[in-house]
Amino acid sequence: MLKKISVDQLVVGMHLKEFCGSWMEHPFWRTGFVLTDPKDITSILASSIKEVWIDASKGLDVAVGQVAVSEAESDAQVEADLLAAVSERRETAPVSTDVEIQRAAQICLQSKQAVISMFQEARMGKAVDTGGAQRLVEEISDSVARNPGALISLARLKTADDYTYMHSVAVCAMMVALSNQLGLDEEQTRLAGLSGLMHDLGKAMMPMEVLNKPGKLTDAEFAIIKSHPEEGHRLLLTGRDVAPMVLDVCLHHHEKTDGSGYPKGLKSDEISLFAKMGAVCDVYDAITSNRPYKAGWDPAESLRKMAEWSNGHFDVKVFQAFVKSLGIYPIGSLVRLTSGRLGVVMEQTGKSLTTPKVKVFFSTKSNMRILPEMVDLSASGSHEKIVAREDPAKWRFSDLNELWSGQAGI
Ligand code: C2E
Ligand code: SIN
Ligand code: FE
Repeated sequence: MLKKISVDQLVVGMHLKEFCGSWMEHPFWRTGFVLTDPKDITSILASSIKEVWIDASKGLDVAVGQVAVSEAESDAQVEADLLAAVSERRETAPVSTDVEIQRAAQICLQSKQAVISMFQEARMGKAVDTGGAQRLVEEISDSVARNPGALISLARLKTADDYTYMHSVAVCAMMVALSNQLGLDEEQTRLAGLSGLMHDLGKAMMPMEVLNKPGKLTDAEFAIIKSHPEEGHRLLLTGRDVAPMVLDVCLHHHEKTDGSGYPKGLKSDEISLFAKMGAVCDVYDAITSNRPYKAGWDPAESLRKMAEWSNGHFDVKVFQAFVKSLGIYPIGSLVRLTSGRLGVVMEQTGKSLTTPKVKVFFSTKSNMRILPEMVDLSASGSHEKIVAREDPAKWRFSDLNELWSGQAGI
């Protein structure tokens, strides 16, 4: 019997099934174990969690004379209850990038932990838990709704060590933003986000020394890595009710429209819309991130490179929608304005893809730093325009990311 109880009814010996409330408030990600350490109960009581689900068939029941808040017959009922609670308190009103960045940093940190646990559990042979993942996707989609660029840009600042985990979070957020751009409905958007989160799960089964190899892979090593879509697909099949879209994106995110991808070498019309979306988001986050084998490229430069490859690799319509969802100069791009000042892109303005808000901080005329100032290129009185992308590798501003994100890294 599954029972929802108040946290002050918890005792050692109960089987903790799930935490109620926002996923972000959970002090641990792991659930589904018998409480043996009184300290765990103390930390639950100290947290903002008010209720939990217990499984009375796997541990102690509530004390005689006490009543549960509610009861459920199946895991599906518990998951529906948890999702409903999250949906009730969704916050999606638009906010500026600097406001959302604070919250996005928190979501990124916790999401990374959650993905690490998900990969560990997959390695231990446990069935995949998409219930927890779904609630995570809701947090990420709400951040994208409040500000489409904040979390996506912040997730790009991952370190090479964290790459695989934060990459899942980043692709999840981009799949949501791209679905919104394509006008997909809420259910499809949610599934697209979930597909993004799970797409590289198969990397959990890849040898760490190959995945984190600092240099180019040998043919034999690449042959191993190429099995990750099938490995991920196999792992996802162990989960309960994993949606066909999630399975499809996992298996086919490395297919290319000209048929040269893997595992099946599918051609454009054989690849689903969602797998095509996955391919674009996957490559963009890969090349803009620092990875064990390559340093990340500037976001605007990356879009330009992808446009060159798009014929053959990507679906052109999907790629165009992707560019619209990020802007031609995504947040964090280094640009030169007509005045000769250099700035970093802070925010899209929604009016035109080429008129974002830019924080200027350097004068190429005097070759000196200037007091940072926000310039809205979409403002009617603005005389400034972007004249060029600038190569951050050439300028080497050590605080470039801090300038737009307000933080040194995540
Ligand atoms: P990943 O690093 O997440 O990259 C995902 C995909 O982004 C790649 O799939 C590829 O389609 C695209 N991509 C990434 N970097 C570049 C690039 O510099 N140029 C171009 N044109 N495309 C790029 P792919 O190639 O099938 O690789 C799958 C995974 O295999 C990679 O995921 C990474 O984990 C691993 N891998 C590939 N090459 C190397 C390498 O030389 N060294 C190491 N350590 N890992 C590699
Ligand atoms: C390379 O290191 O050039 C291969 C990158 C990739 O295709 O992932
Ligand atoms: Fe992959």
